[in-house]
Amino acid sequence: MTLRKDFLWGGAVAAHQLEGGWNKGGKGPSVADVMTAGANGVERKITDGVIPGENYPNHEAIDFYGHYKEDVALFTELGLKCFRTSIAWTRIFPNGDETEPNEEGLQFYDDLFDECLKNGIEPVITLSHFELPYHLVTEYGGFRNRKLIDFFVRFAEVVMTRYKDKVKYWMTFNEINNQANFNRDFAPFTNSGLKFTAEDNREEVMYQAAHYELVASAKVVEIGHKINPDFQIGCMIAMCPIYPATMNPNDMMAATVAMRRRYWFADVHVRGHYPAYLKSYFARKDFKLDITAEDEAALAKGCVDYIGFSYYMSFAIQDQATNDRGAKDKSHASSGNADTREHLGAPEFDYNEDTDLIKNNFVEASEWGWQIDPMGLRWALSWFYERYEKPLFIVENGFGAVDEVEADGSIHDPYRIDYLKAHIKAMEDAVTYEGVDLMGYTPWGFIDLVSAGTGEMKKRYGMIYVDKDNEGNGTLARSKKDSFNWYQKVIATNGEEL
Ligand code: BG6
Repeated sequence: MTLRKDFLWGGAVAAHQLEGGWNKGGKGPSVADVMTAGANGVERKITDGVIPGENYPNHEAIDFYGHYKEDVALFTELGLKCFRTSIAWTRIFPNGDETEPNEEGLQFYDDLFDECLKNGIEPVITLSHFELPYHLVTEYGGFRNRKLIDFFVRFAEVVMTRYKDKVKYWMTFNEINNQANFNRDFAPFTNSGLKFTAEDNREEVMYQAAHYELVASAKVVEIGHKINPDFQIGCMIAMCPIYPATMNPNDMMAATVAMRRRYWFADVHVRGHYPAYLKSYFARKDFKLDITAEDEAALAKGCVDYIGFSYYMSFAIQDQATNDRGAKDKSHASSGNADTREHLGAPEFDYNEDTDLIKNNFVEASEWGWQIDPMGLRWALSWFYERYEKPLFIVENGFGAVDEVEADGSIHDPYRIDYLKAHIKAMEDAVTYEGVDLMGYTPWGFIDLVSAGTGEMKKRYGMIYVDKDNEGNGTLARSKKDSFNWYQKVIATNGEEL
């Protein structure tokens, strides 16, 4: 096994899911602050502003804002080499469209990064992790508006300049490709601040917003390299490989088209131009997108240095038009939607993420229906590296589960250790057997935090337990789970002892 000597073992979080202090230090409301708590299978509500009496779990989260020194001490004990978090855009520009930043917000991240650096922990920073200023939604319609390019670039330039000697690793838009599922409200809102009207062609609006984000990202890559040529600036892609269900050639084609609909974003980030398959799709759909020659020049100049990606699960697809209908399990991989896949098998093989996925009977799933597939991580690493030949960084991976606290306060989480062990093994195999260039591994939510998808606390990923429940009760006290000691050893042995 040949992991780099300077392999970035770490842990990942996002500001809105752990900081709390949603209106402290001059911070403005973000899109995360108008999302109520949902539950397993119950979507979070997006409210019109903050409504008194509603439960907004991100408002307090785990109050990292007030506990960060104590928490960084635990991260140090764990042995982290890096800490992936985001800078809450609304701490720096509370409304998003100001010209001057909020000094108190900038100071908070100075203090946090200093605390990390003095303990030998390198910050890895996401610029936009589902935290768009809410004002940019109400005043501008989110990223459907070209003006957001400039607002994002200004924010990025301010923080990259301020932290140029403290942060080397950056990522622009977290899981930018979630919005490939534009038929649901969640991803377009969290990715891009999009709220749809009945007249909207949701898909076309999504492509427009994603285009502006890709241009904004490219501009930030170019500016960042001028601010500090040592910066490593990556994209961030949610990777769920989509397998063909059978050897039926139509399943293979359906899977290929589905992969493109989820991963074209990476093609643009890495190669600096739109792929031919997408141009032909736009033409067929007659989408009228605002893509200028200046935009194309910006994309070409702002290719990312590495590919950051999350990996939790794999998907599968079956072309129902040419398979024996009724013989297979038709339940959706994770959302249990009605089967409307009759359209597959037509020459275009158009993919609807909301309805076209099927359950993979070869793998188990978590309580939340997320399919557990370590080999899929090896496949994903291999696919990314073969396609792009760029360094890769696994910036999220993990197992959401309910933990029980024993009478003596201990927390035994062998299921989490099993999941992480199998995925780290797969990642090491990808380095050894596929030759991928891997920068690091930062398991998601290594300190318990608010779930992005459901707003729950009980869907826990952590090695560090936080005493807080779904209703917001608890002391916020931190304690170590069994997985803490296990991961400490993994890091200390550079992944030799799993
Ligand atoms: C990714 C996000 O989608 O997965 C994180 O980048 C999120 O913000 C994580 O928390 C796990 O998802 P969930 O819904 O279980 O919190």
